[in-house]
Amino acid sequence: MKILFFSAKPYDRDFFERSNKTYGFELEFWETHLGPHVVDAIKKDTYKAVCVFVNDKLTAQVIATLAEKGIKYIALRCAGFNNVDLDAVKKHGLRLCRVPAYSPQAVAEHAVAMLLTLNRKTHKAYNRTREQNFSLNGLMGFNLYKKTVGVIGTGKIGIAFCKIMLGFGCKVIAFDPFENEELKKLGITYVTFNDLIKTADIISLHCPLTADNKYLINQNSLAEMKKNVTLINTSRGALINTKDAIEALKVGQILSLGIDVYEQEEKLFFKDLSGSIISDDDIQRLMSFPNVLVTGHQAFFTEEALTEIVASTLASIFALNNNENPSDINAILV
Ligand code: NAI
Repeated sequence: MKILFFSAKPYDRDFFERSNKTYGFELEFWETHLGPHVVDAIKKDTYKAVCVFVNDKLTAQVIATLAEKGIKYIALRCAGFNNVDLDAVKKHGLRLCRVPAYSPQAVAEHAVAMLLTLNRKTHKAYNRTREQNFSLNGLMGFNLYKKTVGVIGTGKIGIAFCKIMLGFGCKVIAFDPFENEELKKLGITYVTFNDLIKTADIISLHCPLTADNKYLINQNSLAEMKKNVTLINTSRGALINTKDAIEALKVGQILSLGIDVYEQEEKLFFKDLSGSIISDDDIQRLMSFPNVLVTGHQAFFTEEALTEIVASTLASIFALNNNENPSDINAILV
């Protein structure tokens, strides 16, 4: 069986080729995103599966063309599936798998890294001391100890994040339509969304992007937050209305903003654009603020997580191809 990879980077090739020794699939790697611009270039009846990532666009039209080309399986090598038209997958009789959990700690730890960097300004200190500037002016942070941390979404990543913040001695409050009993026993209090945004000093987003929560963080919710709130988003870019966040930063409503995801990220992230002119004014404006930290969707990017992503993706494709259930039933979406 031949699998065609999209958005493939050198590390994807390395990890998949290594792990594929067990399965012996034929692997072909394309660097381009999957989307309407390229789907016609897929040779008919050549590949049985495509393997895609977070910014590949699986619209109804793309899925219809994949079906025409003889593709049977779509394997998402990520957890989120907001980029896939699930109805179209069903309509064309394709099967869809994802990696439901690979390393929640990888993402949670990155969210904490962003919070600590923004707060204690280690990125600035690094540059300063290399220039023999040991001045502390402008580097003052605040203690995390006893601060109120609001966690939106207490699934696998949110749970890992909550536990780390408890270790810092923070008061952790959470909002999720489904309350987690283990977290409650650990001392985490569930509150409404409105109470969370009004009382938290730090807010971290760990819910998926759905049709209902696009721009959850917008002009109105930002106005309800404590002045000087720190906001971290490692989930999906469109949970935050970027233009509204820029306005809130301009008036000092937000103390610091850390984003690993961005609503227009597919044009930017995972690419070296250091020699290019970037036409996206919003990301350029965001990066002009001294209190904004942008990372390029790297929260998942640890050795452990990539190993698990690759193992789970290949195992799910193998299971689908053999009409079996994979070991984690949540891996199969359609
Ligand atoms: P999960 O499915 O285990 O948990 C999501 C939780 O969010 C669930 O408890 C659900 O009830 C809750 N939720 C759903 N809608 C909500 C809303 N409107 N408000 C509050 N809570 C809501 O998902 P997991 O594994 O914890 O991942 C969360 C998200 O993190 C993914 O959907 C994905 O977008 C993002 N992610 C980002 C990565 C990165 O590298 N930056 C890597 C992996 C995931």
